Amino acid sequence: MPRMRIEVLETAEDVARRAADIVCDALRAKADAVLGLPTGSTPLATYAELARRCDAGECDLSRATVFAIDEFIAPSRTTPGTNSAYYHAHLRIRPRALHCPDPAASNPDEHIAAYADALRRAGGFDLLLLGVGTNGHIAFNEPGSPRESRARVVTLAPETRAAYAAAFGGQAPERGMTLGVADLLEARRIVVLATGASKAAAVAAAVDGPATAAVPASWLREHDAVTWLLNREAAAALRANNASA
Ligand code: GLP
Repeated sequence: MPRMRIEVLETAEDVARRAADIVCDALRAKADAVLGLPTGSTPLATYAELARRCDAGECDLSRATVFAIDEFIAPSRTTPGTNSAYYHAHLRIRPRALHCPDPAASNPDEHIAAYADALRRAGGFDLLLLGVGTNGHIAFNEPGSPRESRARVVTLAPETRAAYAAAFGGQAPERGMTLGVADLLEARRIVVLATGASKAAAVAAAVDGPATAAVPASWLREHDAVTWLLNREAAAALRANNASA
């Protein structure tokens, strides 16, 4: 079975710098790379660091294409809390193109299937950054998501809705659209970001436990180019022999 690379860094800022290094290196190797960028609070420091490097001329995202990996089903792209609104607010980098599913698509099932097709036609992810939910989700593949799951409409887990309630001003949507586990695992390289004590249990289950639908992030064990970037707190529950940095 392929072995995942685990890098344990000191702080969340170190994780952001290391993630930015990997993105910028990927773009130096392939200027028109296709990137997958997650939402959530974890990658914000990475996006700020990438913006700083782009401003300083140290990194060039201008020819890259970005695809979001999931979205809520919500009234419009400007509804606060949606991933579209998140990218608009937080992604100061300007890629050649930024694709995000439409929260208000009239037929979300068809829409997310077409979105996954568009990603495939663009060549698929060269580099996919992922976060992980406290319940072990990746994108909106909640616990119970099989290895072979494809892009689809999902019912969001109560803990996911709770995490996003404030962003939606009280109540997060009940459903979302997500690339499936199988779609994510088609990326040529995957980097998972996790920081903070609240992620320690999910990280340990994904890295040390069996590959199981109960912990969707554990399916990453079946990919042969996955790097976990963790700070000390997120790595705290790992079996010691896994930490490689
Ligand atoms: C969300 C998103 C994921 C994200 C994860 C972790 O629900 N759909 O893409 O990676 O949860 O979020 P956070 O970084 O805020 O903990």
